[in-house]
Amino acid sequence: MQVGIDKLHFATSHLYVDMAELANARDEAPDKYLIGIGQSKMAVIPPSQDAVTLAANAAYPMLTAADIAAIDLLVVATESGVDNSKAAAIYVAQLLGLNRRVRTIEMKEACYAATAGVQLAQDHVRVHPDKKALVIGTDIARYGLHTSGEPTQGGGALAMLISANPQVLALDTNSVMLSQDVMDFWRPLYHTTALVDGKYSSNIYIDYFQDVFKGYLAEQDMSIADFTALTFHLPYTKMGLKALRSVLPLATMDQQAALLAHFEHARHFNRQVGNLYTGSLYLSLLSLLLTDATLKPNDLIGLFSYGSGAEGEFYAGRLQPAYQQGLDLGLPQRLARRQRVSVAEYERLFNGQLAWNDTDQVIDYADDPHRFVLTGQKAEQHQYLDTQA
Ligand code: CAA
Repeated sequence: MQVGIDKLHFATSHLYVDMAELANARDEAPDKYLIGIGQSKMAVIPPSQDAVTLAANAAYPMLTAADIAAIDLLVVATESGVDNSKAAAIYVAQLLGLNRRVRTIEMKEACYAATAGVQLAQDHVRVHPDKKALVIGTDIARYGLHTSGEPTQGGGALAMLISANPQVLALDTNSVMLSQDVMDFWRPLYHTTALVDGKYSSNIYIDYFQDVFKGYLAEQDMSIADFTALTFHLPYTKMGLKALRSVLPLATMDQQAALLAHFEHARHFNRQVGNLYTGSLYLSLLSLLLTDATLKPNDLIGLFSYGSGAEGEFYAGRLQPAYQQGLDLGLPQRLARRQRVSVAEYERLFNGQLAWNDTDQVIDYADDPHRFVLTGQKAEQHQYLDTQA
């Protein structure tokens, strides 16, 4: 029996800041951000969206009544959690109207956790093939204004339905993991922005990719030529390009050209959104599948998941004949319709997020077009609203 990704859907903000404009405001050369970092636009997440609303907004458009009836596992992977105790998944299950008989859990290991969710979900469906699992990677990447990490911010959520006989990608049960205590990026409980050793984190990322990718090839007795395309966690799109380049010597010149061409498709939408932390690898997969017309059923796609701290995993899946039917086909139009905000407006929104204290707060959500919004905090409880209810 094949198990894997049946549907993928993405949500981000309706607002973005132009990276050339941000570079000018920070006295940097625009090409540093556009080419050196590899980002063209960065999602600006308004205060009316958080990890919970982004997750619900990502998932609801793809779920049919039959899907909802079959889902008995919801994993919300995030490092932008809204509570130290209660799982974001409980709020998301409520907003989505999931079955009461559902297992809801929040998972954390930096940007890696959605992959742990996918693996848990595929194991679950292999045991219960009549059931489906919903896995959502949802985050807001925040380093702070005027920091070197600022151009690698962004945000959004990627929802995946995991099922038997999947429409999109049949997952291989083999994978290679690596987990070690590394202080490359972390966020102590009292910080709203991440702490990072930027250059070190980029080097560790490459080391991890080399380790798990070459480990996978050795364990499976495979070569790089077996893969049609390799996809990566993309904290900024140049990071994935560096990782890909680090293994190109394993390929012939023709294979190198093909892998680089596929990579351009795989970073297309990430370049326009920025870092999503947990959802980033899977937005890259969606980007590849939506924009690369050369792909064919049965192509093998490699996935490299990385979470600082640090954990990495390489695994793979085979493209299914009707894969287009499981994709978020409206994504290109939605991204194109987003509204550009000035750097001053981005800074205002960045500083306008719900304060982390015990006061009652009200958030203006009038301009937010999304179905699920955060309207504020009352009696120390987040207030979520389904604007279509
Ligand atoms: N034209 C073209 N390229 C230019 C340029 C110009 N005018 N000016 C500079 N560049 C290039 C540089 O040569 C450099 O390229 P290489 O990396 O290929 O050498 C690139 O632009 C970036 O320049 P700097 O290294 O000088 O940039 P920086 O010191 O300001 O910081 C950063 C870059 C370290 C990525 C920083 O943005 C950061 O810390 N980001 C957050 C950490 C991160 O994303 N780490 C990734 C691995 S960790 C992970 O993956 C988990 C996660 O999601 C966080």
